[in-house]
Amino acid sequence: MGLTHHPEVIKAAKDAIDKFGTGAGASRLISGTTILHQQLEEKLAQYKGCEAAIVFPTGYMANIGTISTILNPTDTDPHTNTVIIDRLNHASIIDACKLSKAKLQVYPHKDMGALEKILKRSAKFSKRLIVTDLVFSMDGDIAPIQEIATLAQKYDAMLMTDEAHATGVLTQDTGHRTQDLIIMGTLSKALGSLGGFICGSQELIDYLRNKARSFIYTTALPPANCAAALKALELLETQPEIQQKLWENISYFRSCVLGLESCSSPIIPIIIGETEKTLEVSAKLFEHGIYVSAIRPPTVPKGQSRLRITLSALHTKEDIKCLASLLQELIPAAAKQYFAQL
Ligand SMILES: Cc1ncc(COP(=O)(O)O)c(C=O)c1O
Repeated sequence: MGLTHHPEVIKAAKDAIDKFGTGAGASRLISGTTILHQQLEEKLAQYKGCEAAIVFPTGYMANIGTISTILNPTDTDPHTNTVIIDRLNHASIIDACKLSKAKLQVYPHKDMGALEKILKRSAKFSKRLIVTDLVFSMDGDIAPIQEIATLAQKYDAMLMTDEAHATGVLTQDTGHRTQDLIIMGTLSKALGSLGGFICGSQELIDYLRNKARSFIYTTALPPANCAAALKALELLETQPEIQQKLWENISYFRSCVLGLESCSSPIIPIIIGETEKTLEVSAKLFEHGIYVSAIRPPTVPKGQSRLRITLSALHTKEDIKCLASLLQELIPAAAKQYFAQL
């Protein structure tokens, strides 16, 4: 969204520094909670249409704290509970699952048949939690969330969506909102700040506030980050043209590059395969003033190294045209078929 550089977001953060200083000084439950933390939690709950919200210092900590707390075994059997995840979920979810001691079950990417099979044979677990990225961080595609929500309901499983890359980018209601949905998000992407959050029922949020170790035993998010995120949320609500500009840029890039018709978020992977070649193309783009990261194993599977293009609302048509024509020139022969004449 380009909000990290928005003058009003910068001013809100500076004003908060003047008033509260540069750090929170203590953990949330000691003396680190300011009025800005409280306002941000209220605003996030309203924005996501939930009863309540809780803010963690990062999105990573939100996932770690929430999944491990919800699934913490109540007796000595570490396999009382199970957590069921998409193979391409973010690393913070995988780490959280390991910490939870619940039985980890992984289904192939977006394979609803496989998810149902796992759910069918999981009746013995006292708690079943399905966790999925809503927008996948390295592929930019969207989870079949309505189907996942239907399966969760059918098999009485809890559902948690990681909306790190969806928040502020997709419309809020993608049809899967239910009373007991657990929503995770981060303030560090579209909202131009730092921090993570969970939205859900009041009961869930109260429970996390009193039990989640990555919330309790760490210094609170600096107030300036709360102020920046609050201002970003306000801008997204009052200035829909910011989000619109991002989607215009996505459509324009799609129209420049053949084979991208189905891309559905600002994250657009161009899979090159070989790591060396991917690094080489990324370095050449950088020489031309374009920063596109080369993503390689272990972040993505072997043989799937890729350029991860991330469009912003601040990019101009000229920027996008330049990127598309450079890609056409630099991309290896095997991938050339993707690119149309400009
Ligand atoms: C899908 C997803 N979940 C969680 C996170 C962690 O968020 P944060 O960077 O705020 O720790 C990220 C990104 O870093 C992410 O891409």
